[in-house]
Amino acid sequence: MKFGEHFLDELKARVRVSDVVGKHVKLKRQGREMAGLSPFTNEKTPSFFVNDEKGFYHCFSSGKHGDSISFLMEVEGLSFPEAVERVASMAGMEMPKADPEAEKRAEANKRTISWIEQAQGFFEKSLQRDMGKEARAYLKTRGLTGEDCKRFGIGYAPDRFDALRGELTQAGAGLDKLVEAGLLIKPDDPSKTPWDRFRHRIMFPISDPRGRLIAFGGRALKKDEKAKYLNSPETNLFHKGKLLYRYPEARKALHAPGVGARGLIVAEGYMDVIALAKAGFAHSVAPLGTALTEEQLALLWRAGPEPILCFDGDKAGLRAAFRSVERALPLLTPGQTLRFALLPDGQDPDDLIREKGPSAMGEVLERSVPLVDMLWRREVEAERLDTPEAKAGLKDRIFAALREIKHTGVQEQYKTALLAKFDAEFGRPQWKPNAKIKPQAFKQKASQAQIKKMQAGSLHAAREKRIIGAILEWPNMLEQVDQTLFGLEFHTLECVKLQNSLLNYWQDTISVDKRALHAHIEEDGLGAVLKNFKRDRNLVVSGFGGVDAEYKLRIRTWLAEALALEGNTRGARARKDTRGRVADTIRSENTDALQRLMRSSREERNS
Ligand code: UTP
Ligand code: MN
Repeated sequence: MKFGEHFLDELKARVRVSDVVGKHVKLKRQGREMAGLSPFTNEKTPSFFVNDEKGFYHCFSSGKHGDSISFLMEVEGLSFPEAVERVASMAGMEMPKADPEAEKRAEANKRTISWIEQAQGFFEKSLQRDMGKEARAYLKTRGLTGEDCKRFGIGYAPDRFDALRGELTQAGAGLDKLVEAGLLIKPDDPSKTPWDRFRHRIMFPISDPRGRLIAFGGRALKKDEKAKYLNSPETNLFHKGKLLYRYPEARKALHAPGVGARGLIVAEGYMDVIALAKAGFAHSVAPLGTALTEEQLALLWRAGPEPILCFDGDKAGLRAAFRSVERALPLLTPGQTLRFALLPDGQDPDDLIREKGPSAMGEVLERSVPLVDMLWRREVEAERLDTPEAKAGLKDRIFAALREIKHTGVQEQYKTALLAKFDAEFGRPQWKPNAKIKPQAFKQKASQAQIKKMQAGSLHAAREKRIIGAILEWPNMLEQVDQTLFGLEFHTLECVKLQNSLLNYWQDTISVDKRALHAHIEEDGLGAVLKNFKRDRNLVVSGFGGVDAEYKLRIRTWLAEALALEGNTRGARARKDTRGRVADTIRSENTDALQRLMRSSREERNS
């Protein structure tokens, strides 16, 4: 019997712990508490305390702790309901009546499940009998052995209207019960007897997330059957949007030692899940013929943070994938996302595994892409992108999608990632991925004159420090100046190293999180260097217009510093490169101030 929380609270409010305990232990007031000799040990000095305000007792000699109900269970050996009843009678409270409706329902469900279990036994048996011959032959063509059928509980529903009905009514089932269980179909004409829902079909048992057998999926053996797959109808127990085929088994498999996957694999059909399990991917599930619901996503995430959804790589498959993206966006959190695996055109996992083997499936899973990539693809492929208006439209769509993400931290990361993709595709040219930046100055022999110049000008070193220092302070500047930073040639070793570390981090994560960036730099073994830079932080900040300076001013100042740096140390060619990049940035910014800056920097150098 269950007690409502409200009832128990009321009970505890009405009866003091000391009233209950006082019947067994002699208590003396001691400040806010009452003390006595422990009923659990044989002590001589009291170490047993009751606190009525807080509603508990604590026994220091035995370490036991609890409320009045657990005290009675402990001391008198009562069961929980008995202890509740005792306290309730002390309070003069009526015991709540059991919810008779709920109990009846639970009973009815139990009976229904037992009929479904018996049906399962019947289907399995039928597959082995003479009438199961065709079904067995068909399963063989699909690569399923007798062993496989046992493992997955596959059965056969005979080609008759009264087979299961006869079996189960003989076992004592009422017709209504079997209709309720979804096993029989009730005819419109009430004078007719209900008949078997599943006829001449391969039967797949379906469990709910708790592992209770509650429904079936049946695959037609006849080619021209109206429904290739037929599921049990929605019943009290079976809501097909709230479960996944083979979820309990898959969840267990996911957590088996040595699996190491970050989530379940989601395929489209029963046969796919079975083929996957046979190929060593037992952590696979499928929805039952519909797009994933929120409840199903929740089930997936309960099992693991990064389920992989498999889709056919054709147009319909992509559309289905995009629908899942849409469903998932509002539900993303730091601990739950999705990956997408696209299969070769027109194939499902079952086809692929049969044709190319488990390793091919493994490769498809390896190549799965994170949700952010799928979202990008959806937005890019929504329309042609050959005009500025269309590109602006893409940006609008990106922002609309971002607004769907409820978790602000995740939203921010998506924004950074998607805008970086946008820039990579349509904005300024991107530096080559994985290009390593070499400390040129230390490889080349500097001329005597150059050395002199550099020694003379610690000015120059200070400028390098300001350029790097600003990025350390405001990593979000990278969104605009990454290209320019990449092209800059630093001469102080510290700056070269930081330039490397910064750009590698940016390239890998597209993140502008300052703390994460600094942590990365420390991991690169540059902790001491970073510390050095942090000492001069105030100088940098004030040099860039102070803490409250506008983003654009900072960028402008930074670009001016970058130009000046190049002007001092490098040949005309490098200068031109940097100016080109700066000009790109300026065009994208379209500010007059920057144009002026360019001009003046050129004039300065020419004079
Ligand atoms: P598919 O038609 O893609 O079939 O349905 P499949 O899984 O590849 O089946 P085989 O390989 O021909 O045996 C995918 C899933 O959609 C649901 C079923 O759950 C099926 O497994 N479905 C399909 C239905 O519920 N009803 C249908 O009529 C068809
Ligand atoms: Mn198939």
